[in-house]
Amino acid sequence: MTRVVSCALALALAHVGLSANVPEQIHIMYGGDVSNDNMLSGMSVTFSTKSKPSASSISYGASASDLATSIPTRSTTQYHPDGTYHHEAVIPSLDCAAYPAGSPVFYQAHADSDSSAPLSFASSGCSRDAADKPLNLAIFGDWGYMDSDRRPMKIPATGDEFKGLFKEWSAQHTMDRLQTWKQEKAMDAMWILGDVGYIDDSYAHAPLSFTYEKDFDGFMNWIQNLTSAIPTAVSPGNHESECHSPSCVTQYLKHGRHLSNFTAFNTRFNMPSAQSGGSREGTNMWYSFNMGPAHIVSMNTETDFSGAEEETTGDAGIPYLKAGGFGVGTEYLDWLDADLAAATADPATKWIVVGGHRPFASAHIEETFKPIFDKYRVHMYFAGHAHSYKRSAPVAGETVHVVAGGAGCDEMGPPQEELFAQCTLDWSVESDKYSVGLLSISDEKLSWKLVNSEDGSVIDQLDVTE
Ligand SMILES: [Fe+2]
Repeated sequence: MTRVVSCALALALAHVGLSANVPEQIHIMYGGDVSNDNMLSGMSVTFSTKSKPSASSISYGASASDLATSIPTRSTTQYHPDGTYHHEAVIPSLDCAAYPAGSPVFYQAHADSDSSAPLSFASSGCSRDAADKPLNLAIFGDWGYMDSDRRPMKIPATGDEFKGLFKEWSAQHTMDRLQTWKQEKAMDAMWILGDVGYIDDSYAHAPLSFTYEKDFDGFMNWIQNLTSAIPTAVSPGNHESECHSPSCVTQYLKHGRHLSNFTAFNTRFNMPSAQSGGSREGTNMWYSFNMGPAHIVSMNTETDFSGAEEETTGDAGIPYLKAGGFGVGTEYLDWLDADLAAATADPATKWIVVGGHRPFASAHIEETFKPIFDKYRVHMYFAGHAHSYKRSAPVAGETVHVVAGGAGCDEMGPPQEELFAQCTLDWSVESDKYSVGLLSISDEKLSWKLVNSEDGSVIDQLDVTE
């Protein structure tokens, strides 16, 4: 009798997932072999498990029923003693004959005997001109996690605003728009320009508890339907720098020290930093990759240059929550200059697109990066940080600046004009709608449009042709 009850209980627990260690929080990003001139043809895969497996791997193949090739994960990391385990694997550059551009690559994540559902992404092919159609990159910053109905602010608010936190907001509209684009095959990749999920605001939704890790896990599962199928680049924003909630500050040894200096951001994602000679192995602070004729550079606007907002400490400026030091001396700015020089010299590169978290609105960003931009032809610079939309007037031969930070974070409210008080750019289009952008890349042009997340209408449209 006891044995029957035990077996029934085990089966029931397995059915609801309580006894399993099923891979979750799955995310993919371009990341093939350095030796192949097109890293797009490989893919890095990150996933998480609740406990530490003795073995973890990725299997993949050309059909869901034949995942014949298996590769072990190259790292398993638990950065918070009570947190989940984070695994990284890299599917190497694919056989171009077996996986021509657009063909599905099926894969599955494994942790001991537990496995994810079979998932898939579209092969990018093995050449930068492999695509027979424009490549579409969704671009936005300052997303959030769910909405104010499901994650209400628990900190008492006065009026609509309390220290930058808003009572009514929604990241769901942008989620719905991105899901539609996924279903319509309207986007090949996504790029979140920092302040990825506002996880450091977690305390405002549960002030008396430590919820940073639980919310980060929840956010990663919330976006998994997108990020397990669509390669997703992430850039560092100030909200990635640390946990500075009351629990993290007062219980530094238990929580805060494990969650400072972009540790969660650098562990949970795997950008092609190593493949592009960017920030050191295991970090996502600066890197570049190619999408067809465009060279894409993810900048770091937060650390590793003189005057950076998080040059020595994280976003809250707490002395013992240190930040920075991902490169030595001027290593980061030297890399940016060299990367842009190499892209400029590459005949396969027709467009240079740079993105980072902060716009050219604060003096130290413009002072630091404008001279480098001016040396090369940077066609477009994308940023977030401000929670609304601005786009500069196009001037022949000069960089078009786009601020696309209206994806729907829990700090989204009226446009923050004070952020642009010292900005010298001439903004020609502005919007305070929930919005997400799509950059269409072809040999002929970069075609940008900003779309209203709620109704799909086009708010702004611009072509860059030279
Ligand atoms: Fe920000």
